[in-house]
Amino acid sequence: MTSTSLKPQVHGIFDPSTWTVTYVVYDKEGGACAIVDSVLDYDPKSGRTRTDSADRVIAFVKEKRLQVAWILETHAHADHLTAAPYLKARLGGKTAIGSHITTVQAVFKGVFNLEPAFSTDGRQFDHLMNDEERFAIGALAGRVMYVPGHTPACVAYQMGDAVFVGDTMFMPDVGTARCDFPGGDAKTLYQSVKKILSLPDDTRLFMCHDYPPNERAVQFETTVGEQRRKNIHVHDGISEEQFVEMRTKRDATLEMPVLILPAVQVNIRAGELPPKDDNGVAYLKIPVNAL
Ligand SMILES: [Fe+2]
Repeated sequence: MTSTSLKPQVHGIFDPSTWTVTYVVYDKEGGACAIVDSVLDYDPKSGRTRTDSADRVIAFVKEKRLQVAWILETHAHADHLTAAPYLKARLGGKTAIGSHITTVQAVFKGVFNLEPAFSTDGRQFDHLMNDEERFAIGALAGRVMYVPGHTPACVAYQMGDAVFVGDTMFMPDVGTARCDFPGGDAKTLYQSVKKILSLPDDTRLFMCHDYPPNERAVQFETTVGEQRRKNIHVHDGISEEQFVEMRTKRDATLEMPVLILPAVQVNIRAGELPPKDDNGVAYLKIPVNAL
């Protein structure tokens, strides 16, 4: 392994309408890359998608002459739709998500009463990532960390000294992800966060979102050491019991994300729309009084 492959280059592309950061991770210009947590723009008022955010990713990949090895999801997002199929069609690469996505698919197949042919074995993705699985991005070595809590299927991806933490932690002044979605659990999230924070202090951590408080500029990179010192929810010294109490109280005050219903239906299909009706149009469902 070359020394550069231990410290990959990371380019974050922030989507201001969903507060999501898509990452392109690569060793060098002209080499291989992974794309983490892409965004397909979706207007819930009109039901229309756009590709502005994904097109920014494509432009960067082309500018750096990168070959896409992987299009990775940290989990089935509830706040945005993934652009994985759009990116794969234009750039290539294999789509992947944590192997426990099958649990999430089974839950939401029931919630949305999906068509019998909808498979809950994860086959919509090219690959399912197991805990501690190793994968390659050219000369870069990747490692999967199973970090449930926000959802039962969340994973983080470590590539060299960089970890893409998904919805576990946010920046130190924002804290941690909510745990009140189906299969979420605050105690489990605490354990997952501690697993990430057991890495060396100078490990770079890249957030999936930023919700900047007090007019601070958007930021999405920090370190294990900084989180251990400063994260308002999980800094060193906060016990599991204290965290669970805080998280449970706080989650009870949070509204559902604007895009949760369309996002989940599309993301458990690896970004594909549901099968079209006989008029050639794909529809998303809204369960009334069921959630
Ligand atoms: Fe999420």
